[in-house]
Amino acid sequence: MKEKILVTGGAGYVGSHIVVRLLNGGWRVVILDNLSNSHPAVVKRIQRVTGRTVDLVVGDIRDRLCLRRLFQEHSVRAVIHLAGLKSIRESELHPLRYYDHNLFGSAILFDEMINADVNIAVFSSSATVYGPTGCEKCKESATPAPINTYGKTKQMVEEVLKDLRRSNPKWQAAILRYFNCAGAHESGLIGENPLGEPNNLLPILTQVASRKRKRFSIFGSDYPTRDGTALRDYVHVEDLAEAHISALNGLLNGSPGWTINLGSGVTHTLFEVVRSFEKVSETKIPFEILDRRTGDLAECCADPTLARTLLSWEAKQNLDRICEDAWRWQKRNPWGYAHG
Ligand SMILES: NC(=O)c1ccc[n+]([C@@H]2O[C@H](COP(=O)([O-])OP(=O)(O)OC[C@H]3O[C@@H](n4cnc5c(N)ncnc54)[C@H](O)[C@@H]3O)[C@@H](O)[C@H]2O)c1
Repeated sequence: MKEKILVTGGAGYVGSHIVVRLLNGGWRVVILDNLSNSHPAVVKRIQRVTGRTVDLVVGDIRDRLCLRRLFQEHSVRAVIHLAGLKSIRESELHPLRYYDHNLFGSAILFDEMINADVNIAVFSSSATVYGPTGCEKCKESATPAPINTYGKTKQMVEEVLKDLRRSNPKWQAAILRYFNCAGAHESGLIGENPLGEPNNLLPILTQVASRKRKRFSIFGSDYPTRDGTALRDYVHVEDLAEAHISALNGLLNGSPGWTINLGSGVTHTLFEVVRSFEKVSETKIPFEILDRRTGDLAECCADPTLARTLLSWEAKQNLDRICEDAWRWQKRNPWGYAHG
C-alpha cells in the first residue's frame, strides 16, 4: 500500500473524483472537508466505486487545532488542496468571505503542513487568474491579471506557494490552473452536487433537462465567435483527476514543481454545448438570450502544451462524453447525494 495523501475539499466535485483515482492507484487517503458544499454520503459512494475505505475528517482548513490533530493522527506524505469557495459572482458580493476561506485558509493549512513537516502540495488554481486579454490560448507565462475577487484569491495562493518554495527548497508545489471542469464519473455514482444555486454550465443544463429549471440563460449572442456565443475550454473531471495523479507522482519523484494549465486546448460555444447535451440526453433545452454579463470573455482556452510536456497529460474525453456522463449522473441521482 502506498503512502497517505490528504485531500482538502475531497468530498466536493473535483476532489471526490481525485480520491477515487488515488484509491484505485493504491494510495491511502484522508479527506478534510467542512461539507459546506458537499454531502458526507459521497464517502460511501467512493467506497462503492473503489472497494476501498477512506477517512473523512469533517473540519475546516482555517481551524488550526483540527489540522494539528489530523496531522498527528494521520501520517500524511502530501496534500492535494482543493478546499475553498468557487463562485465568481458570490466573491464579488462577499469578498472577505473569499479572502478568509481561500487565502487565509490556505495560509493556515500551509503553516500546519510546515509544523507537521509535510512539504508537498498540489493546488487547485483556476483559469480565472488570467486577465481579459490573451485568453485565446492562455499560456502559463502570461502575467496574471484576475478581474474578480475569486481569481485574485487563487493568484495570491499561487504567490504564497512560490514564496514558500523560495524560502525553503524542501517545498514542492504543483499549481494546476483548471479551465471549465465538467462531466461525472462513468459509474453514475459520483458527480457534481452543488448545494445551492449551481454556477457551472452542466449542472444548470441537467436541471433544465430534468425540468427542475425552466430554461437555460445564454448571456450574450453577439460575441465575435462562430455562432455569437462565448467559447470555453471544457475538460472532463476524470481527465482533471488523472492530471493530479501525474502531478503528485512528479513531485514525489523529486520535481520542485510547476504552474500548469489543465484544459483541452479545444473550445466550444455555448450553443454547441447545448446541442451536444440535447443529442446525448434526447431532450430539448429551452433557452433565452440575455445581454452580455460584465466581465465575461468572448473566449477562454488553455494552451495545454506544458501539461503534455511536464505531466505527459492531455485531455482525452470530448464534449459528447462530458454531456453523456453528466446526464447519467443526473438521471441516477436527481437529488444528488441527498438520499445517501
Ligand atoms: N469546478 C471547476 O470548474 C473549477 C475550476 C477552476 C478551479 N476550481 C477549484 O477547484 C477546487 C474544487 O472545486 P469543485 O468544483 O470541486 O468545488 P466544490 O465546492 O465541489 O468542492 C470544494 C470543497 O471544499 C469544501 N470547503 C469549502 N471551504 C472549505 C473550508 N474552509 N474548509 C474545508 N473545506 C471547505 C466544500 O465543502 C467542498 O466540498 C476549488 O478550489 C475551486 O476553486 C474548480
